[in-house]
Amino acid sequence: MRHRRRHAPSAPPRALPDPALHARVLAATAALLAWATALPATAGTLARVASPGGALSVIVESQHEHRLAYRVERNGEPVIAPSRLGFLLGDGRLERNLELVGQTQRSFDETWEQPWGERRLTRNRYNELRARFAEKAPAGKDAGRRFDVVFRVYDDGVGFRYEFPEQPAMDEVRIRAELTEFALAEPAGTAAWWIPAFEWNREEYLYRRTPLREIGTAQTPLTLRTGEGLHVSIHEAALVDYAGMNLARGDGDVLRAALTPGGDGPAVIRATPFATPWRTIQVGARAGDLAESSLILNLNEPNAIGDVSWFVPAKYVGVWWSLHLETETWGSGPRHGATTANTKRYIDFAAANGFRGVLVEGWNPGWDGDWFANGWGFDFTRAMPDFDLRGLARYAAGKGVHLIGHHETACAVSHYERQLPAALDLYARNGVDVVKTGYVCDAGDIQRQDRAGGPVVREWHEGHWMSNHHLRVVEQAAAHRIAINAHEPIKDTGLRRTWPNWVSREGARGMEFAAWADPPNPPEHEATLVFTRMLAGPMDFTPGIVSLQGRNGRPLRSTLAKQLALYVVLYSPIQMVADLPEHYARQPEAFRFIQDVAVDWEDSRVLAGEVGQYAVIARKARGDGGEWFLGGVGGGQPRALEVDLGFLDAGRRYRAEIYRDGDDAHWERAPFAFVRQTREVSADDAMPLRMAAGGGVAIRFVPLP
Ligand code: NOJ
Ligand code: CA
Repeated sequence: MRHRRRHAPSAPPRALPDPALHARVLAATAALLAWATALPATAGTLARVASPGGALSVIVESQHEHRLAYRVERNGEPVIAPSRLGFLLGDGRLERNLELVGQTQRSFDETWEQPWGERRLTRNRYNELRARFAEKAPAGKDAGRRFDVVFRVYDDGVGFRYEFPEQPAMDEVRIRAELTEFALAEPAGTAAWWIPAFEWNREEYLYRRTPLREIGTAQTPLTLRTGEGLHVSIHEAALVDYAGMNLARGDGDVLRAALTPGGDGPAVIRATPFATPWRTIQVGARAGDLAESSLILNLNEPNAIGDVSWFVPAKYVGVWWSLHLETETWGSGPRHGATTANTKRYIDFAAANGFRGVLVEGWNPGWDGDWFANGWGFDFTRAMPDFDLRGLARYAAGKGVHLIGHHETACAVSHYERQLPAALDLYARNGVDVVKTGYVCDAGDIQRQDRAGGPVVREWHEGHWMSNHHLRVVEQAAAHRIAINAHEPIKDTGLRRTWPNWVSREGARGMEFAAWADPPNPPEHEATLVFTRMLAGPMDFTPGIVSLQGRNGRPLRSTLAKQLALYVVLYSPIQMVADLPEHYARQPEAFRFIQDVAVDWEDSRVLAGEVGQYAVIARKARGDGGEWFLGGVGGGQPRALEVDLGFLDAGRRYRAEIYRDGDDAHWERAPFAFVRQTREVSADDAMPLRMAAGGGVAIRFVPLP
């Protein structure tokens, strides 16, 4: 966000939403150049729009048989070669005989404020092209089908979507497939980091790095690096009432949208008018440019739920890691984790250390036996007999602590929805203002039942029906002043801008894989996530396993310092302090950083990094303290680098509290080799950083008087 300093907003930032302000900004900055010309739809350029700073351009073309294509240039060089647009609909293809019947352009520039986030102020500045298309009237009809394609071109990327106006020729649109293509201009030398789509374990796969031409069907965000070193990410924004988009390699090296199928019909059924989600292409010279980009958030609508000051970004502990270690159980019995006495222990630990939340899993009936297979047995309105929800909520409140709720659905999603109002009431009455939801089942096995006793339809986690389910949960939760953190979620497409109570989610391999998975998360996993999964939005990764051991002593591929770095590197407004209280007691020095680190940020910068190798991120805490934090994570090999501390506020001196790998640290041989030291620094300094194999570094910068 370097431009933030150069373009300070003229008015002081204020709480959103404010439609009046929005409209004023629009009126003040929108240069509306409208013309409606019917151009002959011959092959060639139909329209062109450049980004405000001129770096990126989109060109819309007509091709053979009057098909549509767009291409993208960066500084005059092709990034995306001509790529087709269109649909496979219930009543036939919508891709040929398309004529441009009008186009308008406008410019937009606003700076908006995130209620919480990785930066407070976000500049949303783009040039927009709206191109209107009509199909030649088929024989015997007065008019063909019509739609618009809207392009928003930023200096760091492009978003475009289809908009279907209300029209006699199409009152309902049944989308079997989207034919949108993304054809990289230089496919031969392009590397891709991706996880497969439509596999049983949803998003919980290790990222693979392959040449572009070895992609099968990938989920988004998909990260690419061209032979020239340009970084590109393809994803989507504002996935509302639509199916999630994957990318399949089609003819040659062209990537084509592969919509998540519907359970019992086409991928998407919508009545006109409606708009698709934005298809996004982020472009940057550095890997860090992708991670700093706000394109996905900017393409979402402003806050729709009003004041969310009731949501407090915070750290939380919980009855959780012990369940994954199998020293305690979700189900009832002698090792039941969610007992009143055990939860009190966590509340005491949270209160003593300044952590706001206590998550408790296994608190409700339904976990006994094979819970994976018994989603219809979950009860979200009652607690187990050995868990006194009311008493614990009161006990926690007395110490300034809040219970965090848990709704594991095991994919019986309709069963969950029927209980949702009562379940949220129960939590709200007990001061629970964050709920972790869960959708554990194989991909494609979500159970939807439209009426009690009716047939059960199997849906995908990222299908059209689930996109609506998640928003039903988020909207009902907002009405109860409850924030949602979804596990096994639908992908993040920036909806936290519109629904800022959708605070975090999983959607990748998190820390749980270190407890029990084979293979475990490798040392480079987090340095990959920063430039892949994290481009979508916050992740509830659940860091801070300072024992560095999973189930039965299996080693984490991590040093102690790296566990601290994760709090800065992997952004989430709720961060778990995931290990057991007794394990933190054995690492008091490292624990200090976990106590001190902030969770809500004024600004964030990626100082250095390469996809899948390392990432160094600096963030300034929100509020008056003026503290900065730095986190660095490496990969399987040691890495030394120097970072410029120019991000620190000029003219100030800071005490740098450095938590680093010891000189002989190594995730396997010496994971606990660890040094805490302090130094005085200022923005004029550079600082050498060294990360061991599987290592990392964490620094707190405290301004000196
Ligand atoms: C998977 C989630 O990711 C994990 O955090 C949770 O403990 C289990 N499901 C049980 O809900
Ligand atoms: Ca999971």
